[in-house]
Amino acid sequence: MATAELAGKHLVLGMTGGIACYKIAELTRLLTKAGATVQVVMTEAATQFITPVTMQALSGRPVYTSQWDARMPNNMAHIDLSREADAIVIAPASTDFLAKLAHGMADDLLSTLCIARDCPLLVVPAMNRQMWQNPATQRNVAQLRADGVDVLGPDSGPQACGEIGDGRMLEAAATYEAIASFFSSKILSGRRVLLTAGPTFEPLDPVRGITNRSSGKMGFALARAAQQAGADVHLVAGPVALETPWGVFREDVQTAQQMHDAVMRSVADADIFIGVAAVADWRVDHASEHKIKKTAGRALPSFTFVENPDILASVANLPHPPFAVGFAAESDNLELHGEEKRVRKNVPLLIGNLGPLTFGLDDNEVILFEAGGATRLPRADKLTLARALIAEIAKRLPDTSLIR
Ligand code: CTP
Repeated sequence: MATAELAGKHLVLGMTGGIACYKIAELTRLLTKAGATVQVVMTEAATQFITPVTMQALSGRPVYTSQWDARMPNNMAHIDLSREADAIVIAPASTDFLAKLAHGMADDLLSTLCIARDCPLLVVPAMNRQMWQNPATQRNVAQLRADGVDVLGPDSGPQACGEIGDGRMLEAAATYEAIASFFSSKILSGRRVLLTAGPTFEPLDPVRGITNRSSGKMGFALARAAQQAGADVHLVAGPVALETPWGVFREDVQTAQQMHDAVMRSVADADIFIGVAAVADWRVDHASEHKIKKTAGRALPSFTFVENPDILASVANLPHPPFAVGFAAESDNLELHGEEKRVRKNVPLLIGNLGPLTFGLDDNEVILFEAGGATRLPRADKLTLARALIAEIAKRLPDTSLIR
């Protein structure tokens, strides 16, 4: 979980009526764990779904529900509660509350706080799909966006009413990520990043194949860090069991050839390409159409391999390549192989994994190879490292006007 962006931040977390209130218990826990202080304010309707006692216990602060609350010495809760806030987050944001915000109404503590604010406002809608699709709601959301309000979600999927569609609130973890992303510095704002991640899978027959131990964690962490840095991110992923980072466009592929084709289709739009995938170097010349049977007395199967395209080299050798970054997983002598590989692949930057191969682990230590020499980054968890790498890449980017 991201922590750096939220440490020391003061958030007013406004809850309105909706079954998604249960998600806010977990969201509050995630936010406070990341070092944010969370001041919960609930509408009357929200208290029908979860109690202020629960929210007080999780946030560690008294919860406010009424504009007539006498706990504020000057009786101005609507002003004072948001005075120190870095942002107000309305989650869940009901249809009714979005309408109130869009029209500038102020008939309870939370809506008055929103109108009297001097900080950014984020809303996380949660409602039935028909309520979300209703032209009035869509008008209100468009108005809020035009007023500079950040609208996070909604998600799509099964709803509490039994229907399926758009409108359900983002899960707590995704809401947390979206809030963290809001606060992170936008060093890649306006840049388009294309990444590959995970292993590839090369079939031998319809049930068997050759793959490798890449978990995809480093590539997914980089995609997430790039998104949080303000980039438009397209992630081409081999077969992995990982959730798509919030706000990232993901395209799933299986084979190296499919990964190559997906990258080549999109690379013309990219400012940065990061090849993190552990791409299979070879594939079987002709994969069997039918499952290869183990018949007694028959010779063992043998396969002829052909070389797969080198995706990174194909990108780096384009007439107008994006800033191309490679990764190298070596089992020995990284210092020697790293620079040699960077030159062979014709990339300005190659990131070498130091030490034992770290497939599937959460920690990593890397060396950056570039024409000017090698730099070592300290060991860190993959997300921290991904953020550091994104900062290193951002520093090395040519001026936007010179990119293409
Ligand atoms: N790579 C690629 N396409 C391939 C092979 C590798 O895009 N067919 C990329 C990887 O995503 C990584 C970099 O090239 O960014 C280095 O990958 P690696 O497997 O270490 O290098 P190889 O060229 O395969 O060299 P070797 O396996 O001999 O070390």
